[in-house]
Amino acid sequence: MKKEVLDYLICPLCRKKEYSFLPNILKESDKDIISAILTCPHCHKKFLIKDGTAYLSPDLTKNSSIICAKYETPQVASSYLWSHYSDIMADPEACNAYSTWANMSTDTELSIDIGCSVGRMTFEMAQKSKFTIGVDLSSTFIAIAKKLQKNGFIEFDLIIEGELTAKNRITLPDNWDLSNIEFIVADALYLPFKKDTFSQSAALNILDKVPKPLDHLKEINRVSKTKNSRLIFSDPFSWSTDCAKKKDWLGGTQKGDYKGFAFDNLCELFCGKNNILTPAWKIEKHGDVLWEIRNHRNHYEMIKSKFIILLR
Ligand SMILES: C[S@@+](CC[C@H](N)C(=O)[O-])C[C@H]1O[C@@H](n2cnc3c(N)ncnc32)[C@H](O)[C@@H]1O
Repeated sequence: MKKEVLDYLICPLCRKKEYSFLPNILKESDKDIISAILTCPHCHKKFLIKDGTAYLSPDLTKNSSIICAKYETPQVASSYLWSHYSDIMADPEACNAYSTWANMSTDTELSIDIGCSVGRMTFEMAQKSKFTIGVDLSSTFIAIAKKLQKNGFIEFDLIIEGELTAKNRITLPDNWDLSNIEFIVADALYLPFKKDTFSQSAALNILDKVPKPLDHLKEINRVSKTKNSRLIFSDPFSWSTDCAKKKDWLGGTQKGDYKGFAFDNLCELFCGKNNILTPAWKIEKHGDVLWEIRNHRNHYEMIKSKFIILLR
């Protein structure tokens, strides 16, 4: 992990008081921390940097970890690598969703991609940001994203059918700057960052995957700058009790505080309803992105992800 990232970090368990870590650096090279123990001076919880990767999710997020376990398999990694990079791989059936989301980002100082998976949006935002951080709870996804960052390419087994696979290679464009990026294992419900930090945030297709969707929005709101801030939000609102209890869904129900469509409820929340997400955001644009996940050569899932670009 780049040493400069330490300046933004706080203990994810003591977010209100914003305790910076006491770092015990065990191995470093030039500007990178290779291994370290980061201790919270308040709760004394220890977090690790191992082989250059920071692991900053608290163990108490067991529900999140169970949901995230499905993202740790090679099959799902193959699906997401195709989904993120099929246009770069010049696949004839490529999905252009990520270039669409990438075009929603703008020149800025510091960006975060929450639920970054195998990194496409993080890399894209980094081309327009002084520094970009990608976070995901899946250590498999973060390892893949870091490998792509380090080497500029990755070879992987694309699922063809059943256990049949084919070697594929993704090579990131030569002109991409990969130096101004950090990938961190962290929980979207316990972001290890100070409030009022990021001038641009992205949260793509993660809201319906976390056990407490409203807490996820509160965390995005907390770490986003209170002024001159941009948020790129997108989600298909595929509510399921596999991820969150029905009482915690932000839409898709007939009763409760968030009955009706999540899109409408989120627009109201972001625009200041009940002062839950403050300072209020303004909607710059909204619409749909057609996004594809490829399971194997004969099975693609087409997902309509509803995006909202917000400013404040
Ligand atoms: C549906 S995928 C979307 C990934 C990516 N943003 C995209 O649009 O392709 C959901 C992502 O959220 C991650 N995730 C799920 N729960 C999480 C949590 N509590 N904290 C951080 N990441 C989480 C998963 O590992 C996965 O990468």
